[in-house]
Amino acid sequence: MIRRSVMNKKIRVGLIFGGNSSEYEVSIISGRNIYKAIDKEKYDVYPMWITNTGFLASDADSRKVLEDPSYQIENPHNVTNISNVIELSCRPEIDVFFPIVHGNLGEDGCLQGLLRILDKPFVGDDVLAAAITMDKELNKIMAQRAGVPVADWISIKRFEYNDAKNEKLSYDYVSQKLGTDLFVKPSNQGSSVGISHVTSASDYKAALAEAFKYDDKVLVEETIKGTEVETAVLGNDDAIVSGVGQITNAQGSWYSYENKYNDNSTSKLQIPAALPSEIIETVRRQALKVYHATECSGLARVDSMLSSDNKVIFNELNSLPGFTNISMYPKLFEQVGISYTELITKLLNYALDRYAHKKTLLHKHD
Ligand SMILES: Nc1ncnc2c1ncn2[C@@H]1O[C@H](COP(=O)(O)OP(=O)(O)O)[C@@H](O)[C@H]1O
Ligand SMILES: [Mg+2]
Repeated sequence: MIRRSVMNKKIRVGLIFGGNSSEYEVSIISGRNIYKAIDKEKYDVYPMWITNTGFLASDADSRKVLEDPSYQIENPHNVTNISNVIELSCRPEIDVFFPIVHGNLGEDGCLQGLLRILDKPFVGDDVLAAAITMDKELNKIMAQRAGVPVADWISIKRFEYNDAKNEKLSYDYVSQKLGTDLFVKPSNQGSSVGISHVTSASDYKAALAEAFKYDDKVLVEETIKGTEVETAVLGNDDAIVSGVGQITNAQGSWYSYENKYNDNSTSKLQIPAALPSEIIETVRRQALKVYHATECSGLARVDSMLSSDNKVIFNELNSLPGFTNISMYPKLFEQVGISYTELITKLLNYALDRYAHKKTLLHKHD
């Protein structure tokens, strides 16, 4: 295919960052890192900042927030829509979008739907894969279908939660099915927000109330005791898998919001993981199965639990993982010789390739 760079013109990249999820700050830092590291010989970057008040900022402000690290980026977490991103339709000069908007509206198929309607190439999952992988239950169902083990779970919908007689609201009932040590989580969330670890009836009641603040569907899962392993996938049909990183939480602790983002985290990250090669290969093989089963493209970080008896149990897939230069995803590829800058180039090429391929498919009216 003819790429603009072949014709000695730079490819114009619309770098969309910010958004209205709990991962707003991470997205801005990812945006800053991409902006700095992108190959300037090949690309011209047009920063597009979805602000913490829910608006697509001007080009000048968008550039400023990426260029000036002291710029205020606090997220009030109360933004309900980002409707003026529709203004992206007034950017015909953009050749390819790089949306690095995590979570709600950015990672769940909504933004992807807009970019599809605008008929533009974009990095990362298309609509279906983004939507499936955002919903932890659908993601688990697809993993099971691909033969990949998952933690046993029960899901509770809002209407069931509202029915005081529903048996799923009883700790006795769920602990008979799943054991007494449980995780309760909103089906659609990120950054460990709304998640609780539960070992008693009173914890369980409080955990359900907390999780239902964030979603209309809540998962109750058996606790997998052990460590956490993450791997990175890159590409479309021909996707490749990186090595494996490991997260070890302090005794009795888990990878909570504080342990993910605070300086005094007690969780330890290790890249690459010091694990036997059979385990590493199982993590990588299962990750690729889930990636293809959910029809991902471009990139994903696939997270699993490694149980104390060495079973690899799929937990979740992040289709737009943290992309700061110290994030697990780019670190895992750096470790196998793909630099942060090269990774960006590859992702943009995968976006252009997918778009070009989709153009070859016949439509009814053709
Ligand atoms: N079934 C489980 N067993 C043990 N730990 C779990 C389980 N589910 C979640 N956790 C812990 O909670 C963290 C966050 O859960 P996760 O499902 O990954 O949601 P998020 O999308 O918020 O990261 C995990 O990294 C892990 O530490
Ligand atoms: Mg997680």
